[in-house]
Amino acid sequence: MAKQEVIRPLDESGLVAKEVYFKPEYVALEKQRLWSRVWQMACRVEEVPEVGDYLTYEIGDESIVIVRSAPDRLNAFFNVCRHRANRIAKGCGSASRLRCPFHGWQWDLDGRNTHVTQREDWGGLLDDDDLSLPRVKCETWGGWVWINMDPNAEPLETWLGDAAKILAPFQLDKMRFRWRKWMVINCNWKIGLEAFNEGYHVGVTHHQLAQFGGTPHFSSATFGRHSMFGSMTASGTLGANAAKTANIDTRQKMADFYNYLKVNLDSNLTDTVVQAANRLVAELPADAPADQVIQHLIVSSMRDDAARGLQWPMITPDQYQVAGIDWQIFPNMVLLPMATNCLGYRARPNGDDPNSCVFEVYQLERFPEGEEPKKVESVRNDDIYDVAFWGEILLQDFQQMEGTHRGVKSASYKQPRLNPQQEKPVANFHRTYHEFISKE
Ligand SMILES: [Fe+2]
Repeated sequence: MAKQEVIRPLDESGLVAKEVYFKPEYVALEKQRLWSRVWQMACRVEEVPEVGDYLTYEIGDESIVIVRSAPDRLNAFFNVCRHRANRIAKGCGSASRLRCPFHGWQWDLDGRNTHVTQREDWGGLLDDDDLSLPRVKCETWGGWVWINMDPNAEPLETWLGDAAKILAPFQLDKMRFRWRKWMVINCNWKIGLEAFNEGYHVGVTHHQLAQFGGTPHFSSATFGRHSMFGSMTASGTLGANAAKTANIDTRQKMADFYNYLKVNLDSNLTDTVVQAANRLVAELPADAPADQVIQHLIVSSMRDDAARGLQWPMITPDQYQVAGIDWQIFPNMVLLPMATNCLGYRARPNGDDPNSCVFEVYQLERFPEGEEPKKVESVRNDDIYDVAFWGEILLQDFQQMEGTHRGVKSASYKQPRLNPQQEKPVANFHRTYHEFISKE
C-alpha cells in the first residue's frame, strides 16, 4: 500500500484514522517509527535489585535486556548476540555475565565482550569494541526502568514533562508490586489502552457503581504528549465523589464502596483503607456529612498506617486536584495514583497481530520498610469472563475492548465522535501517535 494511503494525519477536529487499529501496515510503522523512538516503561526497579539481576523486555521485533552492573548502575542492551543474532538472555534471572546459549560468547554486565569461543579461528580479526552489546538508553523515574532505542532521544525527564512534576508528590518510586496480572486479549493495543483513558464510560460500563453515589462526570486535560482525567470535584479517594453525591448514610455507602472495590478490583485502595471504612459506622454519627466521613476515613487510615510504620506522603488538596484520577503516559502506560497505592495498565502489540494485544494490570502499594513482597509474579489469564480472577470492573472493560475492536472494522464506521470534555486523552493520544507515525 502506498504511503499516502496508509498515513492519514489527524485533523484539527480530532478525527482518528480507524485503520491504525487493524491494518498490518500500522504494526510495521509502529515498529519503525514509534517503538524505536519513544521512552517506554520496561520494568520496575524492584525487579532488578541486585548486581547481576537481569530481565528482558519485548517490544515489536526487539528484545532489550536490562541488567544491573553495580548497586547504582542499570544498563540496557539489545538482547542480540554479536555473533549470529541469537537471543542472549531469556526471561529474568541473576548472572555474573551474559552468555549466548548458541556458541557461548560472553559479555560482562556492562556489555563488554569477555569471551569468544575459539577466538583464535578469526586470527585477530575481531574488534573488541565491535563485539560490545549495543546500548539502549536507560533511565529511571517513579520506580520504573524506562528504555529508549533512539540514541538521540531527549532525556526521560523532558519526555515526561509536567506529568512527572504533577505525579511527584505520590512518590511512586516508594511503592512495590502487590499483584500483577496479564492476558492476551482480542483487540488492538491502542483500543486496550483507550478503555482506560477516559472516565466517560464509567457511569455506563460500570453502572453498578451508581449504587454508591450519583452519575460521575469527569474532566480531562492534556499535558504535551500525556493526558489525564479527573473527577470534577477534588478528592483523595475514588470513593469520595460517590459519597459526596449520596444523600443518605454516607458512612455505610463508603464502607459498601470499599468492600465492593476490594472484591471486584482490589485496587484504588489498601487493606488499611478498607478496614478504616468498615469502622465508619461505629466511629461517626449517622448524620455525619460526606466531607466529614471522607476526612475521617483518610485521617484514620493515615493513623493506622503510621502505627504499622508506614507514613503517607504529604499531598496537598491542590496537588490531589491537579493530579486527578487517571494518567495516560504516552504511548502505552496508564496510571491511577493514590497516596499509598497505584493501579497500573500497560498494553503492547502481540507480535505482528494487530487484532490482539498483551494487556497487563498491576497494583503498586506502599509497604512499611522491610515488609515489601520479595518477588511478585505476573499471572496470566486470557478468560475475559473469569470474574473470580479479574473482578467485575475489569471484566466490564474487557467486553467493551473486544466489542470496540470488532466494531471499528465495520464499513459503516468512519471515525469516533469523541466527547470534547471527557475524552481529550483519546484525541491527544492519536494526535501524538500520528506525529510519530508520520515522521520518516
Ligand atoms: Fe472502565
